[in-house]
Amino acid sequence: MAMFAVALVAALLFSVSSAFPWGGQLDPHFYDHSCPQAQQIVASIVGKAHYHEPRMAASLLRLHFHDCFVKGCDASILLDSSASVTSEKRSIPNKDSARGFEVVDEIKAALEAACPRTVSCADVLALAARDSTVVTGGPGWIVPLGRRDSLGASIQGSNNDIPAPNNTLPTIITKFKLQGLDIVDLVALLGSHTIGNARCTSFRQRLYNQTGNGLPDFTLDPAAAAILRPGCPRSGGDQNLFFLDHVTPFKFDNQYYKNLLLRQGLLSSDEVLLTGSPATAGLVKLYASNQAIFFQHFARSMVKMGNVSPLTGGKGEIRSNCRRINRN
Ligand code: HEM
Repeated sequence: MAMFAVALVAALLFSVSSAFPWGGQLDPHFYDHSCPQAQQIVASIVGKAHYHEPRMAASLLRLHFHDCFVKGCDASILLDSSASVTSEKRSIPNKDSARGFEVVDEIKAALEAACPRTVSCADVLALAARDSTVVTGGPGWIVPLGRRDSLGASIQGSNNDIPAPNNTLPTIITKFKLQGLDIVDLVALLGSHTIGNARCTSFRQRLYNQTGNGLPDFTLDPAAAAILRPGCPRSGGDQNLFFLDHVTPFKFDNQYYKNLLLRQGLLSSDEVLLTGSPATAGLVKLYASNQAIFFQHFARSMVKMGNVSPLTGGKGEIRSNCRRINRN
């Protein structure tokens, strides 16, 4: 009898999971009945935010990445510090860098007004990342939904699990692998750097002393380095901003990969895709020559990244304010 019950539950679980061809336990139709306006609300506020400040699309896209790489896509990045929480906003990758939290607050307030305690903050980040890609000219995709929000944060996870701009290619590949993401995901997802900014402090080393021998990074075009140096001196100017893609900084396109071929990637972690291994270099060349394939792979990898360890069922909660866990 017990065996039969186990077999029945296993069969049910199998039929449920196989009903979701997009993989995992998430479902694009999750809010169809409980909050049919959800996707429209997110899209309209992302559209408005991008209209007021074009960089915001990039900032929102990055938030989903920094969320998913730390304990899964559970909105842990959105928690402010409190008695029980040390905010991930203070981590090395996020401090003075991660932004867009006010836009998330605005989206969440609109969702709470329409459908209280229904749409998770983690799903807001996943939808806002997709909508940010679309408003800047990139591909769209169907977003699997139903993530729940964490009851805590991990500043250690944020410091350790998010790749750093001076990491070597093997380290970066390992950090992606830890999330279940492969080399194709890595090269496609880094195409996000076709929009948005980086601070001087994120790439200064390349301009002056890449390997400790007092010489600039030889994989950076010397003419590009000369243009960057006045705004990013040896000391000072840490927070000065530069476009990650200096050719079409507000357009989601495949220019990022074309820049890499010219040795004009801004971050060391960008250029190593070309210089670090034949496999990643092959993908860089493919995407530089074929934007349609880049878009296809990017959309697929964003869904994959969005599926990293979501909280579902009875785990976690639906926060009513993305910055704090619910009291009761
Ligand atoms: C090897 C992996 C990655 C590294 C080392 C990396 C590193 C960085 C750094 C250092 C910045 C600039 C931060 C600053 O100076 O304030 C940045 C910006 C950005 N990153 Fe990444 N990143 C990686 C992967 C990704 C992925 C997977 C995505 C999205 C799916 C992404 C999206 C963005 C965007 C859109 C920006 C611009 C944000 C803005 O303008 O506010 N990055 N990244």
